[in-house]
Amino acid sequence: MHVVAPAKINLHLRVGPARADGFHPLMSWMCTVGLFDTLEFDYAENSGTTDSAGHIRLSCDDPNLPTDERNLVVCVTSSWGRRVYEMKKMRVRSLRASLAKKIPAGAGLGGGSSDGASALLAVNRLWETGASNVELAEFAGKFGSDLPFFFHGPSSICTGRGEIVQPITQPKPKWVMLVLPEIMMPTPEVYRRFDQMELGRDENVKEMPSWNVWAQLSAADLLPMLVNDLEAPAFSISKRLRELWETVERGVQRIVRMSGSGSSLFTIFDEREEAEAAARKTNKDFSVRALAVELAPEVRDIASNALSTGL
Ligand code: C5P
Repeated sequence: MHVVAPAKINLHLRVGPARADGFHPLMSWMCTVGLFDTLEFDYAENSGTTDSAGHIRLSCDDPNLPTDERNLVVCVTSSWGRRVYEMKKMRVRSLRASLAKKIPAGAGLGGGSSDGASALLAVNRLWETGASNVELAEFAGKFGSDLPFFFHGPSSICTGRGEIVQPITQPKPKWVMLVLPEIMMPTPEVYRRFDQMELGRDENVKEMPSWNVWAQLSAADLLPMLVNDLEAPAFSISKRLRELWETVERGVQRIVRMSGSGSSLFTIFDEREEAEAAARKTNKDFSVRALAVELAPEVRDIASNALSTGL
């Protein structure tokens, strides 16, 4: 079975003061983008059924990524296997999975979370565990704030610590230029710096914008509305990222935002050709990887197309 896992960007990300559990209340407009990891699943040779360890053996084309329980693909699916045994006394077949990475790690693009979410959707089919997307999203939320989004998408408002997902209309601009610097931003450190800088305000997450009005705006009208409260702490941690952000904004003469806790940067366009021209210019002039991709492609279409190809 072949599964795709899309990246996300936070078009808009407001962050409140830390809660008692250490997490921060968020209000974010998240959209999928047309940059995908892929996962290939097979039943393991001579595989029997298993009720505990050994649900899944993962290989990955990126040698820097762990392939044990530290990888969300393994962690989430093994945990699901254990849960179905506990709940239904149902043993599941061992699997092999290979992960081909295109979404960079530490980029604020939700790559690991998307891999984990897509893997859970896949094993729900392969093991015939019959859970709804809502149940899977709730289960996955325990493993990271970004995972539930990927069961809903492609354009959703995420609140709580990120796990409360409300789909909304897709944004009118259909194209995004992604800038992918070779900088890994550690999310917990960015939030710690946000706290040190005392940037958390209740007002940040109190009033919801009129999302359906925002969704109708052209790129030029929407860009000035967009905020990412994690830019200041991320730029304070990485001067190189701040400089690149300023350079790219000047270069493309357009508002540029950071996604999540960084390091990826983006700007949006109404027309594909404009996004492609900006990406070519950014690549060439600033020697940084930049690409033009679709904004908010349908996750479920992609997932069901891929899943319908079967094993
Ligand atoms: O949930 P996730 O594993 O993605 O979070 C990584 C880290 O980011 C957390 O350990 C926490 O430090 C920070 N975080 C936060 N508030 C959120 C989401 C993440 O403080 N809403």
